[in-house]
Amino acid sequence: MDKIVQLCKTRGFVFSSSEIYGGFAAVYDYGPLGVELANNVKRAWWKTMVQEREDIVGLDSSIFMSPRIWEASGHVGGFSDPLTECKKCHTRSRVDHLLEEIGIMADEKMTEAQINKLLDENAKKIKCPKCGKSDFSPAKSFNLLVKSNLGNFTGDDEDPVYLRGETCQGIYVNFNNVVDSMHVKIPFGIAQIGKAFRNEITARQFIFRTREFEQMEMQYFVHPNDEMRFYNEWKEKRMQFYLDLGINKENLKWHKHENLVFYAKEAYDIEYNFPFGWKELEGVHARGDYDLTQHSIHSGQKLEFMNQETKEKYTPHIVETSAGVARTMLAVLADAYTEEKVGDDIRVVLKLNKDLTPFKIAILPLSKKEELIKPAHDILNLLKSKYNCDFDITQSIGKRYRRQDEIGTPYCVTVDFDTLDDKKVTVRDRDTMKQERVAIDKLEEYFSEKF
Ligand code: GAP
Repeated sequence: MDKIVQLCKTRGFVFSSSEIYGGFAAVYDYGPLGVELANNVKRAWWKTMVQEREDIVGLDSSIFMSPRIWEASGHVGGFSDPLTECKKCHTRSRVDHLLEEIGIMADEKMTEAQINKLLDENAKKIKCPKCGKSDFSPAKSFNLLVKSNLGNFTGDDEDPVYLRGETCQGIYVNFNNVVDSMHVKIPFGIAQIGKAFRNEITARQFIFRTREFEQMEMQYFVHPNDEMRFYNEWKEKRMQFYLDLGINKENLKWHKHENLVFYAKEAYDIEYNFPFGWKELEGVHARGDYDLTQHSIHSGQKLEFMNQETKEKYTPHIVETSAGVARTMLAVLADAYTEEKVGDDIRVVLKLNKDLTPFKIAILPLSKKEELIKPAHDILNLLKSKYNCDFDITQSIGKRYRRQDEIGTPYCVTVDFDTLDDKKVTVRDRDTMKQERVAIDKLEEYFSEKF
């Protein structure tokens, strides 16, 4: 994990937020390569979930919404984590995480009393992650919604507005708008990618758990009788998504939720074998009619679907798929990170799926002499409208190859002095390190085959 964090910083993928001010806990910035990787992850998700589907439409709802939405959804009353404080060093920790460290899985839906019982029973075994002592205050529930003063000009703390805690609520409340404007028929889905905010108590493990993050959520609206059939179909499709991203099958598994909320029929997580253990990557949930019913009751607007042929009117049930952009990035980075022995050296290579790499091609003039820079620029101009290319003239060619390996660039194109005579360049493959001479006027065709 340390190596991945280091690579992310030194190669411009991920920086700590507000670093020059000493940092800001649990928030990260994506650097020039991180933003490319994140965009590629989101593009891959949008392509499978919207572009290639006739039955799914996109949405971009606002981050700020009526606070009544969060009351209806149950977040104001119940979206909380159990918090305890070490009496010795005052470090605050999530009780379920402390229990997990000693192999006890507390369910997220447990009451404060149930969690405290578990905490008491295991008091001697649980250690503070900072000072190692076993002396904790009783657990207290801590609400995760982040409050803001949007539109509040009185300065008091009443009637807070929340930053959204999940993107899907924006989907539920736009159900009627989408049905009326798009004339969609059940079954259909609404997909959205966007930021969500949670006051996570312990935000650990790099970008795995942060207070500001992006979700990729799709809500699939179905007839009540079809919910489990579509649920099982979506489970399969969502696992396939990660396999298609190139993640090793052995590093993915299903985790079934045991203590379901009363309205849920079934809930599974796709887990990835992160360097710090198996953890949730995505949730796939059969949510019944809970969400639309809650918003119908609280808003007074019916959120129903009418089958025009049979005239049956009903509240659709929902199959939800909910993934995180940062967790997907971390999983693909961890899966792609490879160290290979080359002679006496260790070569670090990110064996990323070509669709995800920040750069597809690096153009490397062998020397800084104008006679090589000019044809190299011509090649950049030839390729850059189709592929995101890097143009690198710093350091020796060997060091530049290693840098491109470390950031996952699948191909390097080297322009050397022979190029001036034979109008050919050397193309080097990231994985095999094999090199071949390709004529400049055949490069577009060559890469369109490779990609
Ligand atoms: N609408 C359902 C929902 O939000 P969730 O399990 O709380 O379910 C879904 O979140 C996904 O969002 C997670 O599987 C994870 O990928 C991502 N996610 C949740 N909290 C996160 C956090 N604090 N930091 C980064 N990603 C997070």
